Amino acid sequence: MVELQFIGHSAFYLRTDDTGILIDPFISQNPVAKFDTNSKVNDIFVTHGHADHLGDAIPISKRTSAMITAIFELANYCTQRGATAQGVNIGSEIKFPWGSARFFSATHSSSTPDGTYAGCASSVMLSVDRMKIFHAGDTGLHREMKTIGEIYKPDVAILPVGGFYTMGIEEAVIAAKWLGAKKIIPMHYNSFDAIKIDVEKLRKLLPSDIELLALEPGEKSSF
Ligand code: NI
Ligand code: MN
Repeated sequence: MVELQFIGHSAFYLRTDDTGILIDPFISQNPVAKFDTNSKVNDIFVTHGHADHLGDAIPISKRTSAMITAIFELANYCTQRGATAQGVNIGSEIKFPWGSARFFSATHSSSTPDGTYAGCASSVMLSVDRMKIFHAGDTGLHREMKTIGEIYKPDVAILPVGGFYTMGIEEAVIAAKWLGAKKIIPMHYNSFDAIKIDVEKLRKLLPSDIELLALEPGEKSSF
């Protein structure tokens, strides 16, 4: 079983057996974040370098020795700042004691808060306890999502829906169909004014066989 907690914005915490995994841990500067900072963290995934995704990854890695896995240039940036990080890239399966991860390209930009080039922006799929959880990062709609659905078949897709910086509700509906996931968790909305949306509109637009799981910050769901 996997327990997934929505921290807020694009930040998630996965718990399985004795393992804690953070994705895009934007916590201390995130006005809506709800997370127990004493939670166990073994691995951290960062989809791209923007401050609302890199977040607290470096200090958490320094404090807990958790490994940051990210695109090569972003991982190097983290290593240079004292974190434990491994640089990967798009495409192949990366094995962990708890399962595996695979990075995909996202249509977005990626630089760190000080303007350093951070490689390409990515989405990441984690396979944990037979569940495949796809975290799209920040992205626009792109056709590769159809391929990801056909070949890698995610069970749960976490999609940005707030618009302005990423795709919005209408594109998320198409992405959900292409990815083929039966559960959609919306993210990257309502954290600040530019990305305020009515998530219930998304619920109405989704086909009835796709479940929208709109979690409040701090809320957990188990699969
Ligand atoms: Ni971004
Ligand atoms: Mn963002």
